[in-house]
Amino acid sequence: MNVLVIHGPNLNLLGVREPKVYGSRTLEEINAMIRQEAAALGLEVRILQTNHEGEIIEAIHSAVERAEVIIINPAGFTHTSVAIRDALAAVRLPAIEVHLSNIFAREQFRHSSLTAPVCAGVITGFGVHGYLAALRLAPTLAKLVDT
Ligand code: DQA
Repeated sequence: MNVLVIHGPNLNLLGVREPKVYGSRTLEEINAMIRQEAAALGLEVRILQTNHEGEIIEAIHSAVERAEVIIINPAGFTHTSVAIRDALAAVRLPAIEVHLSNIFAREQFRHSSLTAPVCAGVITGFGVHGYLAALRLAPTLAKLVDT
């Protein structure tokens, strides 16, 4: 089974970016943990980080041919991007939205997610463990969609 992991804008700065909010692990360290968990679960994983909305949209489009599940942290675009929401809705691949921080415990503007309603569910506030939990859920989710 193939899983596409998408990290949105500013997540390339993890480790130095607001460590009190996002933790001290770098994106490279997080990706190594994702790859390790995927290997343990027997999943093929492709990971993308981009600061560009259009690249996220194109990655979602091309996932149709390459992945069964999308795990996405749209970062700041969570709260603003109708276009990413529309892309997720268009491809109809099951997606899990992940946030490192608990978006509901933060500023009001982070409480709403435009992308969450077109995802199967959201994992928010568990740091890197959110991505690992999403990987563990991926096979179940793919099966649910199949039935
Ligand atoms: C985030 C939460 C967003 O509100 C924020 O804009 C991010 C990261 C998270 O992982 O906690 O960039 O998605």
